[in-house]
Amino acid sequence: MAAVPEVQVLTTPGEVRAALVGRGRVGLVPTMGYLHEGHATLIRRARAECDVVVVSVFVNPMQFGPTEDLAKYPRDLERDLGVAGAAGADFVFHPDASAMYPAGFSTRVEVSGVSEPLDGAARPGHFTGVATVVLKLLNVVQPERAYFGEKDWQQLAVIRRLVADLNVPVQVVGVPTVRAEEGAAGLALSSRNTYLSDEQRERATVLSRALRAVQAAYADGERRTAALRQAGLDVLAQEPELELGYLAVVGPDLLEPETLSEHPLNRVLVAARLFGVRLIDNMPLDIVSGEQTP
Ligand code: PAF
Repeated sequence: MAAVPEVQVLTTPGEVRAALVGRGRVGLVPTMGYLHEGHATLIRRARAECDVVVVSVFVNPMQFGPTEDLAKYPRDLERDLGVAGAAGADFVFHPDASAMYPAGFSTRVEVSGVSEPLDGAARPGHFTGVATVVLKLLNVVQPERAYFGEKDWQQLAVIRRLVADLNVPVQVVGVPTVRAEEGAAGLALSSRNTYLSDEQRERATVLSRALRAVQAAYADGERRTAALRQAGLDVLAQEPELELGYLAVVGPDLLEPETLSEHPLNRVLVAARLFGVRLIDNMPLDIVSGEQTP
């Protein structure tokens, strides 16, 4: 068996800066840990495109609401080091909360507009926490490229807005969602899937099946968002345990018009609670041209 390459763990911004001096093009993969094949795909992409790859593993308290799963969010650093190393990471930046938010910390990064609908409405303060920590990570690591999964489509749009608005010198790379291939085939990979049993995961494929039904209606020429949504809602109605957060058919601004105009960034997004776990997923509507990035 091939040995997994050693990954060096860094815990402070100062250690990161010292480790990266003179190392060439830096790629950053920000994560909250409990790495899965979706993260490994981001790391492999960074490995292929950069000289040095840093994976951050930080469960960011600022992006969790008071009733959310911060305390029980899955954590396993040893396992993460194995996954990150096997995928080609050189460093894992694993700060504790006091290294990221020292006493007296009092800055918040608010991205208006794109942060406001969908998950922004359902999780007040969430994207402020994401934008704040991502800007901090970009400032600490100063990567040339930063890699994010399209599974968090709205997050990716918020980060692109932040980087453009604040002239952050980084190229944001969006990477298509990785889905389970067997068992719960089609389920978007997520660290939160670990909260579900095998049977529950299989039932959670109702989300990707609903998104596919919307894609199929769009491919048939339907452009009225109410009719497109209905195609997805009919599938979601088959799962009695599902509590719908939203099913939205949106254009490039993440807003839902009455009728979609042709655009490669048209997208369908869903959020739902299943067996007590909040899951999100999304798919492109313009599937002819493949997965698109905002
Ligand atoms: O997508 C995530 O895992 C997190 O929101 C991120 C981007 C690492 C910020 O904490």
